[in-house]
Amino acid sequence: MGKWVKACSIDQVSSGQLYGFHHNDKQILLANRDGKVYATDLICTHAEADLSNGMLSEEGVRCPLHLSVFNLETGMPQNPPAEKPLRTYNVKIDQNEIYVEV
Ligand code: FES
Repeated sequence: MGKWVKACSIDQVSSGQLYGFHHNDKQILLANRDGKVYATDLICTHAEADLSNGMLSEEGVRCPLHLSVFNLETGMPQNPPAEKPLRTYNVKIDQNEIYVEV
């Protein structure tokens, strides 16, 4: 069982937005796609790009550097060059605050 940590308020990640935050040594990406918030690793598994600078679409989050797209539910890359999945995290929303299980 992980520990729930407060990431930010829901207003900071409105629909269509990406938001990166740090908790101890973890770097986590929040993505709000059509009102549902997902959490994955922030750093691309290919060459360490910051995915909060990428683009959100129906397929997932697109890396800004070499354009691999990662599925937000599974973390799996949908196209090369990335091959390794991102870790994904459970998310809950309570009183307009977003919590992630790290
Ligand atoms: S750094 Fe993300 S695809 Fe290369």
